[in-house]
Amino acid sequence: MFDAGNKLAKRVTRIEESPIRKMMMAGSKVPGAISLAQGIPDSRTPQYIRDGIIEMLKEDSKIGKYTLGPGLPELRKLVADSISKKGGFPVDPDKNVCITAGAIEALAITISSIVEEDDEVILFDPGYPPYIPLIKFAGGKPVLVPLQADNAWKIDLDKLRAAVTPKTKVLIVCNPSNPTGMVMGKEELAAIAELAEKHGFFVIADLTYEFLVYDEGTIPSLLEHPSISDRLIICYSFSKEFSMTGWRAGYLFGPEKVIEQALKVHDDFLLCAPTPSQYAALIALTKKPGPDPDGLHAELVEKRNLTCERLDRLSDLFSYTKPKGAYYVLARYKKPNIGSQEFAMRLLNEAKVIVVPGIGCGSQGEGHVRFSYGASKEKLNEAFDRIEAWAKTL
Ligand SMILES: Cc1ncc(COP(=O)(O)O)c(C=O)c1O
Repeated sequence: MFDAGNKLAKRVTRIEESPIRKMMMAGSKVPGAISLAQGIPDSRTPQYIRDGIIEMLKEDSKIGKYTLGPGLPELRKLVADSISKKGGFPVDPDKNVCITAGAIEALAITISSIVEEDDEVILFDPGYPPYIPLIKFAGGKPVLVPLQADNAWKIDLDKLRAAVTPKTKVLIVCNPSNPTGMVMGKEELAAIAELAEKHGFFVIADLTYEFLVYDEGTIPSLLEHPSISDRLIICYSFSKEFSMTGWRAGYLFGPEKVIEQALKVHDDFLLCAPTPSQYAALIALTKKPGPDPDGLHAELVEKRNLTCERLDRLSDLFSYTKPKGAYYVLARYKKPNIGSQEFAMRLLNEAKVIVVPGIGCGSQGEGHVRFSYGASKEKLNEAFDRIEAWAKTL
């Protein structure tokens, strides 16, 4: 008999299923469960973007067709100009930018273009779950630098320096961080730039949440270190900043030689990012009616405060570090004998709330669960009411 399971590619079978997808699938079988698992902003894509696309769909014959592989020239130019302005160095829209189907595609085509067998990729633990499978898929070895909850999930620069070896090909930073909400400061970014320069490795900056810092105004950028502009790669997402998760739009910025290779993978896997989504991204950037259309940012600030208040009321069960950016809290639960997978499953089955087990974000995440507060305030309150009632039964 033909055994399909035995004939599959090991580079895929050795990858574990995403902990987020696993919880979302388990949650979909529990009627009425509220999801605080996946980072989906509850708000609709802002009206000006939806209206702009409706108009284009009515009028424009180009919107249903492929674009050039790297993406709409006018969108690439906007991206290039904005990076050039921040970094103070020239950026060529034809050589340094590719429009992608979300930040995840930018990460995937970059990692598969620069990482090969035996290359080491440094990343922080806990971190965004897909990094490790993408590295393994490319044949590379993830090297994890632990972060500690007791240290507010801040980077320990000595541990980072100790992780660098001659095999280090790339370091991935996510700033602000999913899942910890930690924001790297000038000192950390300067140290990262210095290491990358000294040891000759790439830095991938995942800036999916760069737009969302709470108390510190703006966030420092690796673009302020022109000494690494020849090895800096940026993966950006329109998903969260513009509440556009379903559109699948993002971009990749990087050195010409990297983009050249990444474009081959992009072309073979995708041809181009979805055209309506590229136009939606263009509208998002060019037609913005004010600093915070539809109040998305203000709402996330309120939801961060609400989530923290509700967690404070549950201080017998959880401790946590207040997020400085992004929209996640990685909370430690005070039940030392339960693994985070079991804890998350009990929360799902007994309280009907879906969260991500911390172990899914790395071994340092064990003993924690990740709450996303992208959900509406009503849903957040209802979920925490359920958790409070459940906590009393423990
Ligand atoms: C840190 C981080 N990077 C990348 C992504 C993927 O974003 P996109 O929807 O643009 O693919 C996410 C999504 O949650 C994320 O949290």
